[in-house]
Amino acid sequence: QWTTSSIVDDTVAAIREQVGDRRAICGLSGGVDSAVAAALVQRAIGDQLTCVFVDHGLLRSGERAQVERDFVAATGVRLVTIDAVDRFMGALAGVTDPEEKRKIIGREFIRVFEQAARDLQAEAGAEGDHIDFLVQGTLYPDVVESGGGSGAANIKSHHNVGGLPEDLQFSLVEPLRALFKDEVRRVGLELGLPETIVHRQPFPGPGLGIRIIGEVTPGRLETLRAADAIAREELTAAGLDRDIWQCPVVLLADVRSVGVQGDGRTYGHPVVLRPVSSEDAMTADWTRLPYDVLEQISTRITNEVSDVNRVTLDVTSKPPGTIEWE
Ligand code: XMP
Repeated sequence: QWTTSSIVDDTVAAIREQVGDRRAICGLSGGVDSAVAAALVQRAIGDQLTCVFVDHGLLRSGERAQVERDFVAATGVRLVTIDAVDRFMGALAGVTDPEEKRKIIGREFIRVFEQAARDLQAEAGAEGDHIDFLVQGTLYPDVVESGGGSGAANIKSHHNVGGLPEDLQFSLVEPLRALFKDEVRRVGLELGLPETIVHRQPFPGPGLGIRIIGEVTPGRLETLRAADAIAREELTAAGLDRDIWQCPVVLLADVRSVGVQGDGRTYGHPVVLRPVSSEDAMTADWTRLPYDVLEQISTRITNEVSDVNRVTLDVTSKPPGTIEWE
């Protein structure tokens, strides 16, 4: 029988077989998938693994601190944080096409990892082992939706599948490639990761970059980050975290609408709340959030986030909509 502990045992054995006594790095996104992938690989190969967290400037409020503090406390893993905000902002300047954004973010991610690997090797000195492997938390639905599964069309290039450069310098270790999200969570608990990490709602690798409809700029990111933090705070306060799969907040940066705030006319941007319920993200239903929670989120965002004068609700299921807007 395929129990969670047998999944862990089999996967650990497969990782040992693949990596042997060589070294690997793992990109942590702060999400469940990369955390569980890293914990599995650490169990398999111990300190042959170094985790790398890239701050690409597309993170949500508090995310970097959470990885640096909570994940390290839970696993004891060796972590290197790289500040790559300027690099990503430069690469994304002027880009509005969703697939182009995804490909740029995926490519820059890998380039930053390659640099991190070179730096780690330089630190290890001449006799330090070469880093040959890159660990990724790719799930089965990511594989399918990027056209890697049996017969599926390419819907989106998930950054960790479709966006890889052709001259990739690492072999990939993808221990979650056959698993769905609920299985990943069970594996995480089996490995002793805390509930705060295991039951975290999904957040895409390309981050807030695919939640700004239009060009990604530092100012727009700041606006979206503020709106997102409010929505998350209110959903948590209402005790709804475990009832919803995730609730992206999307900034319609290229759309403006007229409003009236304080003493006068405003010409600001709408945000969209996209609360969804799902088992595995392959399909999803829009979540019927209580009206008082929606009202509280709307009031706070329009009061506290200066560029936003309208809050809208996405009532589309998947299909036909995807969960993320880009
Ligand atoms: P979609 O928008 O395809 O999203 O319905 C399905 C689930 O996947 C997440 N998502 C991603 N996760 N890299 C990731 O790690 C990505 O490029 C990516 N794109 C979407 C999304 O948040 C949802 O949970």
